[in-house]
Amino acid sequence: MSVERKPVAFGDLRGWVAALKAAGELQEINAEVDWNIELGTIMRLAQGAGTGPALLFNNIKDYHKTDSRCRRIFGNGLSSYRRVAMMLGLSPDTHPRDLVKIGRNVLNGSIPPRTVKTGPVKENVIIGKDIDLYDFPVPHWNRLDGGRYILTYGGVVTKDPTTDVMNVGIYRGMVASRDRIPMLMWRAQHIGHHVTAWQNGGSAEMPIAVAIGWEPTLGFVGGTPVTKGVCEYDIMGAIRGEPVDLVKCETVDLYVPATAEIVIEGYLGLDPATYTMEGPFAEFTGYLAGDRSPKPTIRVTAITHRNDPILRGSIEGSLPGSYSENAICSSIMRAGTAWNVLDRAGVPGITDVWCPPVHAGINLLIGMKQSYRGQAKQAANAIWGSSAAHVRYKHVTVVDDDIDIHDYAAVDWAIAYRVNAGEDDIVIMPSTFGAGLDPSTRRRDRNPALFGTGKWNRVLIDATMNLDYDPDPDLGGARFPPMVWPEQRDVEAAYARFADLGLRKPPKADL
Ligand SMILES: Cc1cc2nc3c(=O)[nH]c(=O)nc-3n(C[C@H](O)[C@H](O)[C@H](O)COP(=O)(O)O)c2cc1C
Repeated sequence: MSVERKPVAFGDLRGWVAALKAAGELQEINAEVDWNIELGTIMRLAQGAGTGPALLFNNIKDYHKTDSRCRRIFGNGLSSYRRVAMMLGLSPDTHPRDLVKIGRNVLNGSIPPRTVKTGPVKENVIIGKDIDLYDFPVPHWNRLDGGRYILTYGGVVTKDPTTDVMNVGIYRGMVASRDRIPMLMWRAQHIGHHVTAWQNGGSAEMPIAVAIGWEPTLGFVGGTPVTKGVCEYDIMGAIRGEPVDLVKCETVDLYVPATAEIVIEGYLGLDPATYTMEGPFAEFTGYLAGDRSPKPTIRVTAITHRNDPILRGSIEGSLPGSYSENAICSSIMRAGTAWNVLDRAGVPGITDVWCPPVHAGINLLIGMKQSYRGQAKQAANAIWGSSAAHVRYKHVTVVDDDIDIHDYAAVDWAIAYRVNAGEDDIVIMPSTFGAGLDPSTRRRDRNPALFGTGKWNRVLIDATMNLDYDPDPDLGGARFPPMVWPEQRDVEAAYARFADLGLRKPPKADL
């Protein structure tokens, strides 16, 4: 079945919020909510396992006066597959398997942005001593966080100093003072590539801008490992079917969406002497992570924002029963990206790829129609050799195409009976780069300043039928015995009698 997309350009965050409201996907909260712990707790509890609504907080403690600079917070926009489907211009009921396929396609699309002279984001321009990040109702999201995190779902814009190609990524950042934001930067992420390039050019600072609050593609694409050298604005354009209108920043040579709610401009200090304390933070792993330590820091040189701006935030950290926006989006786009990597590497026979949302892409599932020995190992090698594997794909499980990778029980059954550790079905790739926020890695090896990346021992679980076994003449040349599921003719005959026998067909019994 092919799924048709009708791309939607929502215009801005407000257009997206209106669309969600019309679709019954938004809960507005008018009762007063405290930015300190309470708001983050409500968001985490409300999101459920992909089931909760998007949330617009209209009444935030300490920030609801008529002269408050910013009074509203929006979150949980993409914490459900229904809303991801809406963003992509699809029916809300589209199956995640189809969302992965669409995700693959949009990553290969491109509609470059266009520059416009000005836009609503310039309605207020704050520079110099008027800059005060505490004017914004930045939540202290979790009790154990090291501070108030203003960068949770903002598009962080930087550029390669030699090619001028911009990158937009989501990176966490904490308010350290009125005009300082230390952030978590890994060398192996694209922002880290830019840092290295600016340092190699002799710069002590790197221009940076953060766009907070725009159409949903900003966070969706910013959080996706788009191919190096491709600008995320091009992919956002491809999703919405129209170019993104960009305006030039006031104090740095970077471009941001003209209808963004808030833009923070400045310079990221590259000299460790300028680092300030950041962390820890409730991370995507569902654990507190990223120790309190000195981190590269944005020196804010300007803030521009719309009238009555909405602060866009996201509660990070996925756990059983509570899936974050990052988890839902990663389950689609980390799977789509992995599938594209496999295709580019020429691994044949891939039938399905999936990352269950509870861990946001750490465990990658691949369905494959094998045609030769060692195909699962070829797939794992291709995945782990790609830069997209930096913070994902620690464990790769490969199954045959008769296993539904969206069904935990099916995958578990394949692991139970098609894996033989003594026959090289479990392979460890030791000491690779990896997510420095994973608590299963020793603390020393999670230090970004020492190593620029984390350290992962990766595992392939080859749960395919082993084509290295000899074909069995007693089984007609097959390598595995037949399963006990009855033949189709017997199934049909039995089901035909079910009603008479007082039996009901189980929901999944249409095999
Ligand atoms: C809500 C959210 C928070 C994130 N926080 C960070 C972070 O603090 N540091 C980081 O390196 N990556 C973080 N990521 C992951 C990156 O955004 C992601 O790996 C993205 O692909 C990076 O952009 P790049 O491909 O241009 O490097 C976060 C993603 C999301 C969705």
